[in-house]
Amino acid sequence: MNVTILFGSPRRNGNTKKLVDYLIEGLKKKGHEIKVLYINDLNIRPCQGCLKCLKEGDCTIKDDMKDVRKYVLDSDLLIFASPVYWFSISGQLKLVIDRMMAFMDQNYNSRIKGKSAITVMTSGAAEKDVVKPSLMMFEKTFDLLGLNYIGHLEARGCDERKDAITRTKKEVEKLLRLL
Ligand SMILES: Cc1cc2nc3c(=O)[nH]c(=O)nc-3n(C[C@H](O)[C@H](O)[C@H](O)COP(=O)(O)O)c2cc1C
Repeated sequence: MNVTILFGSPRRNGNTKKLVDYLIEGLKKKGHEIKVLYINDLNIRPCQGCLKCLKEGDCTIKDDMKDVRKYVLDSDLLIFASPVYWFSISGQLKLVIDRMMAFMDQNYNSRIKGKSAITVMTSGAAEKDVVKPSLMMFEKTFDLLGLNYIGHLEARGCDERKDAITRTKKEVEKLLRLL
């Protein structure tokens, strides 16, 4: 499978990357092709809401989203990874998701229907509800984009627990078995 990771943390060696690395390791072992897109390093401007993209899929903004688009279209599996920022996802990942309007057509049918998606999140706080608003957003967004939501990985409590990432290993293995 071709896998694209839409990496939404600005920190390349932070908690989110550590968790994503477990997944990458397992995916590589299974022979999947992986591309990590570090969104923070890309020039992605905010969606301007003109909806001109619905017609042909072309965005009026000329920036690095054209490369993201290419990788997404070539992928079988998309991994959306982000730290929790204010009970939501990072601004970096939100920019890309907003621009994914260009994957819808004029009848709001998806041009990427049938691809699969996994989400990965880390948070400072351990409370259970901390990722809940993001999960609801992902579910509803994937539903409209026609993506098959395979599963979610999270490491909560990264600020307090030294083992917050390592204790997710079993969950990572469980998720990998679904692929
Ligand atoms: C701007 C900002 C907002 C944050 N908001 C929350 C939050 O609402 N809830 C929470 O539990 N942690 C919050 N955190 C902590 C991060 O989610 C947590 O440290 C995460 O693991 C960082 O991921 P990273 O190491 O990949 O950057 C926030 C951190 C930042 C920088």
